[in-house]
Amino acid sequence: MTGFSAQWLALREPADHRARDRTLQNKVCEQLANVARTEQRAVRLIDLGCGSGSNLRALATSLPEQQHWTLVDYDPLLLAAARAALIAWADEVINDSTSLTLRKNNKILEIEFSQVDLARDIERVLAWPADVITAAAFFDLVAESWLVRFCQALRTTLYTVLTYDGSEQWLPPHSADSAMLKAFHAHQKTDKGFGVAAGPDATSVMQRELTARGFQVTLASSPWKIDQTEAAFIHALATGSAAAVRETGLLNELEVNQWLTARMSAQHCMVGHWDILATPN
Ligand SMILES: C[S@@+](CC[C@H](N)C(=O)[O-])C[C@H]1O[C@@H](n2cnc3c(N)ncnc32)[C@H](O)[C@@H]1O
Repeated sequence: MTGFSAQWLALREPADHRARDRTLQNKVCEQLANVARTEQRAVRLIDLGCGSGSNLRALATSLPEQQHWTLVDYDPLLLAAARAALIAWADEVINDSTSLTLRKNNKILEIEFSQVDLARDIERVLAWPADVITAAAFFDLVAESWLVRFCQALRTTLYTVLTYDGSEQWLPPHSADSAMLKAFHAHQKTDKGFGVAAGPDATSVMQRELTARGFQVTLASSPWKIDQTEAAFIHALATGSAAAVRETGLLNELEVNQWLTARMSAQHCMVGHWDILATPN
């Protein structure tokens, strides 16, 4: 397991929601509004690597009135955290049994939770009925060979946000920034349970594989822009980066510690991501 904590996901959620590209989001919402209008039914979304449900919370209030979500993760603790966070977020809990039915801003959401190892079973999940397959902050964890499998099995629209693009800028600059970033990239390409991770190359691999299979692919950038008003997030981000760099052994402890001390009081941090909307022809 890669071990994402619900606390870390909660810290990043506001920056994640701000960063998402609105033009791409509006396009996927329009597409689903058409489905709801023409087919007179709930729209169906599957969220891969759902964590504690942030992607649903970002999208649901802009989607049609009746929605069916399947939240997929392999971590049972995160699936439990997602259920709890969604209950706290809802205006009303209509049904809380195996699935969860909520009302939020006059939208009715039926939510299923599914524990699946996507490294092994992605083809099974992509065979479930869905109008959109979605994911947030997920695809940089997977290997290129897995991305090829994923693109081969994908039959419907893909809307994915916040795939790391490899760019970072911390202000004020620090002499170890570029060595730290290089080592962080090396860590990005370690095995996160899917084979050697594609890391910042994931988006270009997906663009290539989906275009080759006749999908219309649109990319948009979705950088985090964080300042000291989110000091706890800056601290967690810097601490996490330093821990990843330490694991690579590419910098010595003193260099990592000096960088970390400076970064705790960084005034600003930008971390680049890509969002992708891919529609089958
Ligand atoms: C960076 S987190 C993103 C979580 C959530 N989408 C969000 O935006 O807050 C990556 C998620 O992928 C999940 N994940 C990682 N490997 C997985 C696997 N093999 N199968 C299913 N989920 C996995 C993790 O448990 C975690 O919830």
